[in-house]
Amino acid sequence: MQAIRYGVNWAQAQALYQRERADFAARRPRSRALSQQSAEHLLFGVPLHWMDDWSTPFALYVESAKGAAIRDVDGFSYTDFCLGDTGAMFGHAPQAVADAVAAQCAKGFTTMLPSADAAWVGGELSRRFGMEKWQFALSASDANRYAIRWARAITGRDKILVFNGCYHGTVDDVFVDLEHGQPVQRASLLGQVYDLTCHTRVVEFNDLAALESALAHGDVACVLAEPAMTNIGMVLPKPGFWEEAHAIIRRHGALLLMDETHTISSGPGGYAMAEGIPADMLVLGKPVAGGVPCAVYGFSADMAAKAEAAKRAAPPGHSGIGTTLSANMLALAAMRANLEQVMTDAAYAHMFRLARILEEGLRAAIARHDLPWCVTRIGARTEFQFCPHPPQNGSEAEAILDGELEHIVHLYLLNRGLLITPFHNMMLVCPDTTEADIARFVDVFDNLLAQLKG
Ligand SMILES: Cc1ncc(COP(=O)(O)O)c(C=O)c1O
Repeated sequence: MQAIRYGVNWAQAQALYQRERADFAARRPRSRALSQQSAEHLLFGVPLHWMDDWSTPFALYVESAKGAAIRDVDGFSYTDFCLGDTGAMFGHAPQAVADAVAAQCAKGFTTMLPSADAAWVGGELSRRFGMEKWQFALSASDANRYAIRWARAITGRDKILVFNGCYHGTVDDVFVDLEHGQPVQRASLLGQVYDLTCHTRVVEFNDLAALESALAHGDVACVLAEPAMTNIGMVLPKPGFWEEAHAIIRRHGALLLMDETHTISSGPGGYAMAEGIPADMLVLGKPVAGGVPCAVYGFSADMAAKAEAAKRAAPPGHSGIGTTLSANMLALAAMRANLEQVMTDAAYAHMFRLARILEEGLRAAIARHDLPWCVTRIGARTEFQFCPHPPQNGSEAEAILDGELEHIVHLYLLNRGLLITPFHNMMLVCPDTTEADIARFVDVFDNLLAQLKG
């Protein structure tokens, strides 16, 4: 066993973890009882097996979630910096969205026909994101799946390209990693019966030469990317990366499909809009309807014309794109309220200001305890990582992921009323987060580091 791990006194950290687990379990009899009850009929005792991946000895059961706060069934309150891993990036149950949903509930949920909100939402999405035409899905995973299918139909090419360590939801095509420079299918996938490496190329983020040679075959329909990687810990593009990458993608006739599902933290029009990266298609899920299940994907004018032509040229029948409840009336009403009243410039200004204070506070605490950790931020999204300098690609980012240390950190915070995302160390600030919330987070984090340092 290493005595010091990422600057942490490991024996002390493990002892701390055992104490935190015991403390959590002792003080949450209702969550424990519900976990035991759920185990009778739910796989792993939870309605989604990921809910078993948190740092707690059994699942934390939620009583209510509003704004930046969650209350559990045992009466404890938490300031939520996880925010449903971005689903609630604009706060839990924003009032305008809750009101719009309640009003729509009286008028029907789903008809497989458009409601009057559809045209307004399409226009607003175009204004914000610069894409001409839009379609809707129920999740970002679905939206990515459909966008890939459109890209293949538009280009007549069969392959896609992704960056090593990416995550774009449960989309089969993207679960290809680089191992010692070779593409391999992710070993953890369940029930995968065909070889994903046949149709997916993978290169490191920030590696323009690798991108150029992977696209030079002329068979890639689209590059599917987050403009900054967020799912293997944060990896930012090097200055000028996207400008060059975009030119390479164009040169080889591939499309650029931007997944802004997490990087919508960068501003009301997303990262690509803020940085002037001209994508061909764009996907956004999770918080776009204020946490009501919904996702959108957009096409540039040129791509929209080609997509419509591809559909018209195809034989009649199912396109393989869409689901029955996609673009339902409830989701459209929620999205309209969210875009109109919640996801505003003023909300972003508040989120950015507080996230900056959080970033500086975390950095100062890390420096005070002389730990070899760093902090990265994209707008309202902040992350601390167990390395002295931010990683520059997926391999570097993966090398410093440490699930055990993350659990210790997360549980210590949770037991003190602070939730962060259960995977890596991501924190979001929402419009309801206050300066006092940030100050408390930094204070508890500072105390934790003192204990971990020993
Ligand atoms: C960048 C990105 N795209 C897509 C998804 C998939 O979202 P969902 O699970 O809502 O389908 C995620 C989920 O974390 C994501 O981070």
